[in-house]
Amino acid sequence: MTDPQMVLTDRVQQALAAAFGAEHADADPLIRPSQFADFQANVAMSLAKRLRRSPREVAEALAAELADFPGTVEVSGPGFLNITLDDTWIADEAGRMLEDTRLGVGTVTPAQTVVIDYSAPNAAKEMHVGHLRTTIVGDSLARVHEHLGNTVIRQNHLGDWGTPFGMLIEHLLDIGEEAAVAQLEAGMGTEYYQAARQKFDGDETFKTRSRARVTTLQSGDPETLRLWHVFMDATVRYFNKIYGMLGVTLTDADIAGESMYNPMLQKTCDDLEAAGVAVLSEGALCVFPPGFTGSDDKPLPLIVRKSDGGYGYASTDMAAIRYRVHDLKADRILYVVGADQALHFRMVFAAARQAGWLPDTVSAEHVQIGMMLGKDGRRFKTRSGESVKLSDLLQEAVDRASVVIADRDYDEETRAEIAHAVGMGAVKYADLSISHDSEYVFDFDRMLGLTGNTAPYLQYAQARIRSIFRRGGFDPADATGPIVLGHPAERALALQLLGFGAVVEKVAESTEPHRLCAFIYATATAFTTFFEECPVVKEGVDADTRASRLALCALTLRVLETGLGLLGVPVPERM
Ligand code: ARG
Repeated sequence: MTDPQMVLTDRVQQALAAAFGAEHADADPLIRPSQFADFQANVAMSLAKRLRRSPREVAEALAAELADFPGTVEVSGPGFLNITLDDTWIADEAGRMLEDTRLGVGTVTPAQTVVIDYSAPNAAKEMHVGHLRTTIVGDSLARVHEHLGNTVIRQNHLGDWGTPFGMLIEHLLDIGEEAAVAQLEAGMGTEYYQAARQKFDGDETFKTRSRARVTTLQSGDPETLRLWHVFMDATVRYFNKIYGMLGVTLTDADIAGESMYNPMLQKTCDDLEAAGVAVLSEGALCVFPPGFTGSDDKPLPLIVRKSDGGYGYASTDMAAIRYRVHDLKADRILYVVGADQALHFRMVFAAARQAGWLPDTVSAEHVQIGMMLGKDGRRFKTRSGESVKLSDLLQEAVDRASVVIADRDYDEETRAEIAHAVGMGAVKYADLSISHDSEYVFDFDRMLGLTGNTAPYLQYAQARIRSIFRRGGFDPADATGPIVLGHPAERALALQLLGFGAVVEKVAESTEPHRLCAFIYATATAFTTFFEECPVVKEGVDADTRASRLALCALTLRVLETGLGLLGVPVPERM
């Protein structure tokens, strides 16, 4: 355990038990960063009432128990404990972290099986910017959980089924397989869909054909299924192009689209009905999970089978949640999906609990993704009002990134590599650095800024540390210290670095990657101050100081590199 805040929590809890009895050992000591010391513990204020003693008395009793603490503990004001850690403690912990390949990040034991449902674009439409964010946030959560030793099962719940596929297949027959494939692979899914839709609305025979095609598709007619595969394969190739550009970890093996659940839907409904969880209402089979009412105060239905016998989005999600618990053996299921689907998921989770398919030991969580807005504060669109094609948007990020690094003196190939890393890093980091449920303004100028809480700033910070080593002719792996802290900027940097493990664990627990972003940014800022104030390889720096400062540089580099890696932000060697 290196994280000072966790160490302090532990120590103050021990003091609580020693001073006031074992029943207080689990009380939250309320450790917070402090203006006047490294940390303050506020627990005396809240505990005093219960103990019928003055907060100051309580604080003093705690301070007495903390006498052997490696630092100073002072009672201040009405009863705060101000805690300052000894430099040697910080230095020793930093030294230990330097030797630790995991940089103080723990491993979860026993490992949990975490199912992460993310990305999930719809095949009948273009993958849009909204899916960009669920893809990026979900991928970062997958990386973090894997790093902690959990078993991660990615589930790309593609929208690859439903009545629109009748007209999509008929349109494919009309324009020919080759033309259809070319269009879909190029990411023109929306145009394709619109063309089919137009015919459907204006051409009676096409409409009739399309309806008939839905039936043959659902009945499993081999030729129709072949055409469906032609359509889907081309669509997935386009999705994969986007995943490849972004460097997300999703593969074809992670595809578990809506169609996968078709064979389970009937049984899903039958079992719900037999258990009395679902009932017929106006011809539709519905679950009425308790506590959900509409505007008219009537119970709100989750429709698992429509009155025409068809299945919809909710039917599939009921089958999916059962499969994830029962077959995939999930301990935790994360649904990284737009915030506008919050009600749907609350109802699905409640219905699944009612059915006994989601036991209390398994948590199902909707990681709500806020809407992406344009600079004008409205839903993100291009200037012409069309929704933006994702591959164009990503390419624009790379193009703009190459302008940002235009003055750098690199050959074409290196320049292209850096531009790609910076462009994709900028788009991803911008998505990750604000809390996932808040709305978010897509702004190239801001995300590509070389200062502030942006990917380019952080990528540059780590590249600069690499160049310190390169120019000095040192290998970061050889920078083993020992770390000795003299200057306040060294101390602040070391103290900051010690928090890495705790923040990674917190991200997994809270499903909030923005916490890791804030940590990495604070680390880079602390490094910048350190580097401005503490010469490392300059002449006149004695050997011990240099060794210590190089070790701090190496540790910072590894934290930045690992942290950015967990976010899925690429780390260019040079920049
Ligand atoms: N395809 C859906 C959409 O674009 C997202 C699916 C999310 N996952 C789920 N299990 N419902 O809105």
